[in-house]
Amino acid sequence: MDNPFSGIAAHAQGLTVLSCELGDTGTATLVDRYGHWLSADEHDRLQRFTRDEPARLFLAARVLLRGVLAGVCGCAPVDLHFGKNDHEKPFLLQPVNDWQFNLSHSHGALALAVSHAGSVGVDIEYVSRSNPVEKLAQRYFSSREQQWLATTDPQSFRERFFDIWTLKEAYIKAVGKGLAVTLEGFGFSGHGEQLHYHYESGEPAPAAVHAWLCRALPDRPVACVLLGDQPVAPVFAQVDLSGQWLQALPVAMASSP
Ligand SMILES: CC(C)(COP(=O)(O)OP(=O)(O)OC[C@H]1O[C@@H](n2cnc3c(N)ncnc32)[C@H](O)[C@@H]1OP(=O)(O)O)[C@@H](O)C(=O)NCCC(=O)NCCS
Repeated sequence: MDNPFSGIAAHAQGLTVLSCELGDTGTATLVDRYGHWLSADEHDRLQRFTRDEPARLFLAARVLLRGVLAGVCGCAPVDLHFGKNDHEKPFLLQPVNDWQFNLSHSHGALALAVSHAGSVGVDIEYVSRSNPVEKLAQRYFSSREQQWLATTDPQSFRERFFDIWTLKEAYIKAVGKGLAVTLEGFGFSGHGEQLHYHYESGEPAPAAVHAWLCRALPDRPVACVLLGDQPVAPVFAQVDLSGQWLQALPVAMASSP
């Protein structure tokens, strides 16, 4: 079978950020269509899930990753080999090239960022109505983030909280050190469409931090952070698991190039 994600890969630029809703595509259908793309390790991991929904999300993420990355690398999805850094961040081992990627999954949706402009982190969240957002902000947000949140009107408070949370997650995933990064030591604040990264304390800040926030799908903020010197204009888009490019998505906020 040809790689149905090749068409999506043809749109890929220096930085491409894809979001994908799983809809009702079941685990069995995905295994049937794409199971031969997976490594023995991925099949093992799939078998170890005890509940279907996390298994389906894991499998869909591997399909999107292998399909798109193989398309940009010009190889077959099964020929991609991955390694992990000391903090479990996956990276492309083979074929050897400049492509980097990051994945996120949450509540039936995925985000994938592929980049050849530097280390990338992506996060997709679901704007949950039940999280104790005030408490979480006090605990994990930098003082400047807390100030930005405090200026938000009450109707938008929860959305703004998740904007910040999503950006912070994307940042720690770009750095690739997980929770070894001090969460309250850095942050993002904004004005209109302009985002600002700031560093307050903790480990030394990366040299060049670029951030984007996309809120085109209801209750689903997607953030991407790129660490790199090159100026890039990212493409954000919604795709599906059959390899269709559904629509380009507008960026709501971005840091200056
Ligand atoms: C991986 C991590 C960085 C994010 O996890 P998460 O939000 O639960 O999950 P996501 O779906 O966004 O990302 C998971 C994917 O990130 C990738 N990943 C794993 N470790 C990673 C790391 N150290 N850095 C970057 N990416 C990583 C993997 O591809 C993983 O998916 P996979 O296991 O299916 O391959 C997690 O280890 C973590 O530390 N989370 C912090 C949570 C938190 O307290 N955030 C506070 C924000 S204010």
